[in-house]
Amino acid sequence: MLREVLLQLAERSDVRDFIVTHRATRDLARRFVAGETLDDALHATRSLSAKGVRAILNHLGERVASLEEARRAAEDYRRLIERLHAEGLEAHVAVKLTQLGLDHGVDACAHHLEAVVAAAAEVGSFVAIDMENSRYTQATLDLFETVCRRHPTHVGVCVQAYLHRTARDVERLLRLGARVRLCKGAYLEPPAVALQRKEDVDEQFRRPMALLIERGACPAIATHDERLIAEAKLLARAFKRSADSFEFQMLYGVRRDLQQALRRAGYRVRVYVPYGREWYPYLTRRLAERPANLLFLMRALWAESRRNGRSAA
Ligand code: FDA
Repeated sequence: MLREVLLQLAERSDVRDFIVTHRATRDLARRFVAGETLDDALHATRSLSAKGVRAILNHLGERVASLEEARRAAEDYRRLIERLHAEGLEAHVAVKLTQLGLDHGVDACAHHLEAVVAAAAEVGSFVAIDMENSRYTQATLDLFETVCRRHPTHVGVCVQAYLHRTARDVERLLRLGARVRLCKGAYLEPPAVALQRKEDVDEQFRRPMALLIERGACPAIATHDERLIAEAKLLARAFKRSADSFEFQMLYGVRRDLQQALRRAGYRVRVYVPYGREWYPYLTRRLAERPANLLFLMRALWAESRRNGRSAA
């Protein structure tokens, strides 16, 4: 119920305008977001790298209002890819297709995606396509397939275990030899489209995880769920996968202890590092995943309002 309310709020721009002005919310966002600028993100990437952890950089933004914004986002990504290459950082980028203009026409979005992936291919890097709300799933997979045919080793896509369709999608992606990231899924979806209970989602994660570890091209298991991570390790052993032929991926600011434990055990760990000013929907999804984060925020907002009340008095 709380998760649903929060995920509905993620789409409300009036609520966003109210929330982002609060210092307490901005402070909490800093836990999950590396900062507002590219330099902040590069700083976080270097810190991770010093601890043996790789990064995926995401310039926050989704469902842009115009094609001009989408064009600028694609241009930003091209510059980011060049900068990562120039600095010799072991990092790649992740994009959302609604940030590249998917709401404003498939052809324009395809054009922007091609430009970003071609820039990555030119320097031997990689672009991960995030998966958004299910109204974009088919278009995302279609656009991924098109660009994957031209740049097979330079682009990958995320699939969400909670969707009923995912087992079929994973089979198809495996036949294509695609590089896939498996996550649980972070959006509000109706029962006709996705499982609703966490236990069912956890259970449904297992089958695609096993398929990807058995047959996937450098698959990414993107979760902080210790039970699933333990099972992934057993599967990797059973299918004789070397520790550098797949990745565990986690989110910036979440379970740093687990990231380090996996790395120390010899596994490859990559952390998703978002940065930029458009952090509101991203933060709301992180709050929805863990109600304790919301309690922490409520306490900080309460303290902030008391401080403001005292200084006004
Ligand atoms: P689960 O929610 O069961 O959490 C397991 C444990 O992890 C919790 O008990 C807690 O300790 C910790 N934890 C999880 N979330 C936390 C949080 N927000 N704050 C503090 N602790 C937390 N989704 C999507 O729909 N499309 C996408 O493209 C992506 N991409 C993506 C990339 C990467 C690298 C990751 C790790 C995740 C995504 N996701 C995503 C998000 C994903 O769908 C899911 O919502 C989160 O990973 C949380 O689920 P867990 O698998 O961690 O399990």
